[in-house]
Amino acid sequence: SKCEIPPIDLSKLDGPEHDEVANQIVRAAETLGFFQVVNHGVPIQLLDSLKQTAHNFFGLPAERKAVYRKEVSPSPLVKYGTSFVPEKEKALEWKDYISMGYTNENEALQQWPMECRDVALQYLKTSHEMVKKLLDVLMANLGVELDDSNIDAFIGKKMVNMNFYPTCPNPELTVGVGRHSDMGILTILLQDGIGGLHVKVPEIIDMEKKEEWVEIPPIPGALVINIRDMLQIWSNGRYKSAEHRVRTTSTKSRVSIPIFTSPQATQKVAPLPQVIEKDGISSL
Ligand code: OGA
Ligand code: NI
Repeated sequence: SKCEIPPIDLSKLDGPEHDEVANQIVRAAETLGFFQVVNHGVPIQLLDSLKQTAHNFFGLPAERKAVYRKEVSPSPLVKYGTSFVPEKEKALEWKDYISMGYTNENEALQQWPMECRDVALQYLKTSHEMVKKLLDVLMANLGVELDDSNIDAFIGKKMVNMNFYPTCPNPELTVGVGRHSDMGILTILLQDGIGGLHVKVPEIIDMEKKEEWVEIPPIPGALVINIRDMLQIWSNGRYKSAEHRVRTTSTKSRVSIPIFTSPQATQKVAPLPQVIEKDGISSL
């Protein structure tokens, strides 16, 4: 089945409907842990060139991409590889990726592949306001005020990935990505029109208590947001870091471009004091 939650219009956060939209975000974070946003401030044209850039990169000759393999990469922040590792894994994931991390924008970027550097940087820059707004809403609901002095501690570690799921001759025999939840705070994911991203419905909203998965359907121009493990822990379990997985297809290759935001390594992995105070007890 498909997730029927309509995408959340982020532009309304700036108007008279602020509280209503903030509630939609909080409710989505507390239930499925996944939602989609539109009017997010990232130009649609940029999203289109990101998808094209991903296809271009993965279409390069193998030797051009191989210079970014983690064994030889010019920087530990840049990693090209495949999740298809027969000698290591039981479940072979039908996916290649290029991973580009940064702590300090300017120095890391020199090492990013020239073919995707500019567009990936623009994506990081133009999405920052949106990420700040979302986090602002989610943290305010926990009783924590977000400002310039603490935002980096919360989401200062960022990484942009480009994922490539080639067409698979026998899609029923494998997965694109096996079931997992994401570490960190928030993921912002751009997916193309192919589909295949599925989320496990938490038991609290799955009345029959059997395992159910819903698809996060591609919506043109929308971005997918999901809560990650660290935010679930900080919120004392209020926000859900949901398990998700990606199916393979035999008809067309798929690309997705996630931004992973994580706290600085000095942050404590425990429910926030403000939340404990409200809840009275740690539930984790
Ligand atoms: C991930 C992930 C989903 C997708 O990279 O952690 O869940 O649609 N990706 O590529
Ligand atoms: Ni994931």
